[in-house]
Amino acid sequence: MKITLNVDGRKRDVEAPPDAALLFVLRNDLGVNGPKFGCGLAQCGACTVLVDGQPARSCSLPVQSVEGAKIETPAGLRGEDGSPSPLQKAFLEEQAAQCGYCTSGMIMTATAFLRENDNPTDQEVRKAMDGNLCRCGSHNRIVRAILRAAKEVA
Ligand code: FES
Ligand code: FES
Repeated sequence: MKITLNVDGRKRDVEAPPDAALLFVLRNDLGVNGPKFGCGLAQCGACTVLVDGQPARSCSLPVQSVEGAKIETPAGLRGEDGSPSPLQKAFLEEQAAQCGYCTSGMIMTATAFLRENDNPTDQEVRKAMDGNLCRCGSHNRIVRAILRAAKEVA
């Protein structure tokens, strides 16, 4: 069926089965390859996007269910001149990615979190990021990056 998605502020028309996972439609049909396929079971967070501002696991989200919703991915967080968001910049500065596979999902979850809490404690960040897994063990650098971004935009 024909579905119109709102991805990073752009309307995108796509032909897809209504139960196709949003992740595959983004990556394979629309070329939006920030969100990654990790577990495919809504367990790891690598595929996280924001749907109407809330983190969602796009590997397990039927595309039809998000028609008309505002979908955000890392590409949409950049400034109009292509510059990274303060959080993306903080990830670079803290070298918070090792292989980088989890980074997209980490950034989306943390973006939603920082919109709700712009002055978090270390513990609050750790709790917010609990469901996003990093097999490289970069968690401490990721937490530092999120705290750094919070300080820089405060
Ligand atoms: S790939 Fe979606 S949660 Fe792991
Ligand atoms: S940096 Fe490799 S999975 Fe997180």
